[in-house]
Amino acid sequence: MLFENVVKDRGLLETAEKALQRTLPMARLQITELPGLDQIRLALLDPACSTGPLPEEVMRAVIAEPAYWSFCWGSGLALAKWLLEEPDSVSGQIVADIGTGCGVAAIAAELAGAHQVWACDLDPDALDCCRANAAINESTLEFIPHLSHLPERVDIVLLADVLYDRSNFGLLDQCLNRGDTVIVADSRIEHIDHSEFTAFARVEALTYPNLGEFDEFKSVTFFRGRRDTER
Ligand SMILES: C[S@@+](CC[C@H](N)C(=O)[O-])C[C@H]1O[C@@H](n2cnc3c(N)ncnc32)[C@H](O)[C@@H]1O
Repeated sequence: MLFENVVKDRGLLETAEKALQRTLPMARLQITELPGLDQIRLALLDPACSTGPLPEEVMRAVIAEPAYWSFCWGSGLALAKWLLEEPDSVSGQIVADIGTGCGVAAIAAELAGAHQVWACDLDPDALDCCRANAAINESTLEFIPHLSHLPERVDIVLLADVLYDRSNFGLLDQCLNRGDTVIVADSRIEHIDHSEFTAFARVEALTYPNLGEFDEFKSVTFFRGRRDTER
């Protein structure tokens, strides 16, 4: 079923692969299963294309325009598994996945029974990849470039591996202003210095494909945030 969709929507996959090749000309996307998550398949960087040191100009381009969306980050993978194990957390709800990248958490939210899922990323290439991945998994996500495009209120906001950029800490309040509940999954932070967020779980998950660079970030902490209306 999944591969038939990809053939039908080959254009989506080609658009995403062309975006990847702007910075990594030798790279390809490969439709792959995810470790421990057999309900979802994603088009991700084919690890077979990424051996050996990169030429300097390619390295510069990758740093200037990193294709984060060509990986399924450990935090997104862990969050997707949690959503599928705890479908009551999103079933029937309006969900927004901010910094969706490859779209793994958004797709999982829909599979878990969410009523509507908004996939948000400021990188247009990420949205193209997410569109291809939604087609592969027969997901009907809504795609937006900024959280200001969300409906005024949503039930749940997801943030997986977005706080790597310290300037994104402002997103915590923006998400609390939009959503009744905010779920953060992050492998790079163990504590959020914000009175409305509480850590509630820690799990192990590696980024996929695992090129070995990210092994130090294998422990993913989950935080739940709710607006304290008393304040
Ligand atoms: C490390 S990736 C994580 C992707 C995905 N959540 C996962 O776990 O696989 C971070 C993504 O967040 C996006 N991003 C960063 N800051 C953002 C912001 N302020 N609003 C929306 N997207 C953002 C980036 O473009 C990138 O695609």
